[in-house]
Amino acid sequence: MPDLRIESLTITYGSGDLAVTPVKDFYRTIAPGTLALLLGPSGCGKTTLLSCLAGILTPSSGAIHFGDVEITALSGPALTEFRRHRVGIVFQGFNLVASLDATENVMVPLRAAGVPRPEARRRALERLTRVGLADRAHHHPGGLSGGQQQRVAIARALALEPPLLIADEPTANLDNVQVEMVLRTLRSLTDSGRTVVVSTHDHRLLALADDVVEMAPTSVAEGHGTERRTVAAGETLFREGSRGDKIYEVVRGDIRLRQRRGERDVVIAAVTAGDFFGEMSALFGLARSATAIAAVESEVVAYGVADFRAKFGTDRIMELVARTESETRARDQRRLVTDPSAAG
Ligand SMILES: Nc1ncnc2c1ncn2[C@@H]1O[C@H](COP(=O)(O)OP(=O)(O)OP(=O)(O)O)[C@@H](O)[C@H]1O
Ligand SMILES: [Mg+2]
Repeated sequence: MPDLRIESLTITYGSGDLAVTPVKDFYRTIAPGTLALLLGPSGCGKTTLLSCLAGILTPSSGAIHFGDVEITALSGPALTEFRRHRVGIVFQGFNLVASLDATENVMVPLRAAGVPRPEARRRALERLTRVGLADRAHHHPGGLSGGQQQRVAIARALALEPPLLIADEPTANLDNVQVEMVLRTLRSLTDSGRTVVVSTHDHRLLALADDVVEMAPTSVAEGHGTERRTVAAGETLFREGSRGDKIYEVVRGDIRLRQRRGERDVVIAAVTAGDFFGEMSALFGLARSATAIAAVESEVVAYGVADFRAKFGTDRIMELVARTESETRARDQRRLVTDPSAAG
């Protein structure tokens, strides 16, 4: 069974001021038959790294080898072959097809690979049995618990018996009992020498791992410096998910904060003269929770945290944080009432 070798991997999204480099000069070798955890807070680059391992994303530089295959150099039919037969992926959402039952969902990659229907069905049932779901083979995703759906997704990733299995946050939104079943399933998959790489911020997974890759966020130093700038209408100040060390004050104009909600992109706030935004990310090193775009030409002052504290004082910082907290809570409550799909 092959080693997974990551060498000097760097991945940059975007360019210029908006460039984000979640993975920088990253090295790691993961031995065959290992359950490896990528552990780190939201936005530190777990999905990004997994996407490269899966051959879905091409890095900016560096290489990933799986045995004698250089994943990062594959293209065309060789890449298709790798993705289909060498790697199985369990996505952050389950991505099951609602109109197909569990067996049919697992059959999808088998049929796509040209396995005849009766044989595909036989193998799908075998994979479902392996993840402990033989008795749910004919349930549709809607009739399964979150943990069961996740195990169907694992069975589907296993359909073609890939030597490498990748799972992105497989225990997100699961209760303890379900987490345990999913973990046991993932753990058992390395028995045959398969390499399993799992991203998580769930520390419950630590006990089961052979190898833990701690992915620290690119460190956010307490920023100094104050900069006044004009932002053109339509210009983006920062993007949701990125990191930044500045708190902004609007001097004139109108800055809209937009947040992704599944497929949609909604305006969650319009910030106008005298108001502030961006403090949570700057203070706590969190990923930006929204994208900030100027609705009209605007003028803003960007403060490093130290400068902000010097000018406005600690009390003002506390007020801002408390306000953000209560707004977020109110919004989440509204969302639960108006949008039942957001509850999951
Ligand atoms: N397609 C993209 N374009 C621009 N930036 C991106 C893109 N995808 C991710 N990023 C940025 O790269 C960083 C890492 O994102 P990534 O999704 O890999 O994090 P993660 O560790 O998986 O986070 P989470 O735990 O929330 O899933 C984030 O700052 C994110 O905003
Ligand atoms: Mg992710």
